Amino acid sequence: MKIDILLGLQWGDEGKGKIVDVLTPQYEIVARFQGGPNAGHTIEFNGAKHVLHLIPSGIFHKDKINIIGNGVVIDPVVFRREVESLGLGTEEVRERLLISLKAHLIMPTHKLLDAAHEASLGEAKIGSTLRGIGPAYTDKASRNGLRVGDLLRKDFREFYRTRVNDHLRILQGYGYINDLKALEEEWFDAVEFLKKFNTVNADYHIDMALRAGKRVLAEGAQGTMLDIDFGTYPYVTSSNTVAAGACTGLGIAPGRTGDVFGIFKAYCTRVGSGPFPTELDDADGQRMRDLGNEYGATTGRPRRCGWLDLPALKYAIMINGVTQLFMMKADVLSGFSEIKVCHSYTVEGKEQTELPYCLYDIEGLNYRSFRGWDCDITRCSSREELPVELKEYIGFIEKETGVPVTIISVGPDRSATIRG
Ligand code: GDP
Ligand code: IMO
Ligand code: MG
Repeated sequence: MKIDILLGLQWGDEGKGKIVDVLTPQYEIVARFQGGPNAGHTIEFNGAKHVLHLIPSGIFHKDKINIIGNGVVIDPVVFRREVESLGLGTEEVRERLLISLKAHLIMPTHKLLDAAHEASLGEAKIGSTLRGIGPAYTDKASRNGLRVGDLLRKDFREFYRTRVNDHLRILQGYGYINDLKALEEEWFDAVEFLKKFNTVNADYHIDMALRAGKRVLAEGAQGTMLDIDFGTYPYVTSSNTVAAGACTGLGIAPGRTGDVFGIFKAYCTRVGSGPFPTELDDADGQRMRDLGNEYGATTGRPRRCGWLDLPALKYAIMINGVTQLFMMKADVLSGFSEIKVCHSYTVEGKEQTELPYCLYDIEGLNYRSFRGWDCDITRCSSREELPVELKEYIGFIEKETGVPVTIISVGPDRSATIRG
């Protein structure tokens, strides 16, 4: 079998959690491949809403295995809180979850470093979620990280202390002096909790599962435009959010990847700083925010909103090799008399569809207008039932990208999903 990959094509929050939950019945294993508690994946069913940060979005299904891959950075404190808030019971979660021994740990000082670094940037701040993501991946890349497998070492505390001392020297440079005692107590308690969970060589585990004919879905976090290499650098996260990240974040050879499901909103959002060419600072943007409830699932920050950016979407499709598109939140556009899509940029006086090196270099945006629809689509259960204007909009995206839209989401609940 080959592993399918599901990932975001925009700036995150496309609705990955919802769709992973919807697709889980078709798979035996769901595996998160990168990111950490910066992610907030929302799942709604039976009138309840759950937000996941570290735990893969297949967790609510019985008899399915969820894996936290080596590419993920885990904060034990967030992990513990999350397990305890799922409403499943720790034992149930334990049975459904495996954690890679090679996943890195977020330490209390990583969060302090994140805050100190962001504060030092002033106006130029990234708008990080301040969950310690950047510093944890920095330590991973500089070969100073602590991994889940290290928790079994007898000298773990000393190993930890050496790292903390390095961090404290940097923090002192920033003028950041913080009492660590309470944070460390909470962290070490949470580490004991984490140690009760099953750890594996996830690479071998997934290999065996695929050989045995099991179906595996890789779940991404963030989105392509936040990728450390291909996103709007430096306003990005610190991991590879693209399809290649599933290979390195789980130990999958490139030839063993199957479908790549690319998720995008029918419009665009971004939370945090950085370029966002189609951003709307007007009533339309506010309407998207209100109707789409565009407030961060992790930080509660209002999300910036704007029209669909086709050059950026096509770029993401190219980088990821997307085979199927899933369009989310079409219902949020109901009631707009006109819907716009940016189909090209003007750069140095010329029209182009390629993304320039720096998106701040875009001088103008060229839009195509579509007629809106004014009916409730949240109860539609097939593509045929959708208003003709929305079908036109989707048809245009399929024609422009050359990729079929095979899921259309029309509401936050599991059930508000049109397939095929
Ligand atoms: P993720 O990070 O990609 O999993 O997405 P988030 O959970 O951060 O943000 C998506 C938000 O949109 C959540 O509040 C979802 O409940 C909600 N959502 C998902 N799909 C739809 C949809 O089709 N329509 C509406 N109105 N909301 C949706
Ligand atoms: P999900 O998985 C949206 C953004 C932050 C900030 C930048 C860097 O829910 O789609 P970081 O904390 O990684 O140092 O922040 O990336 N960001 C996200 N935006 N959705 C996310 O995850 C995000 N994770 C990080 O707002 O701009
Ligand atoms: Mg999110």
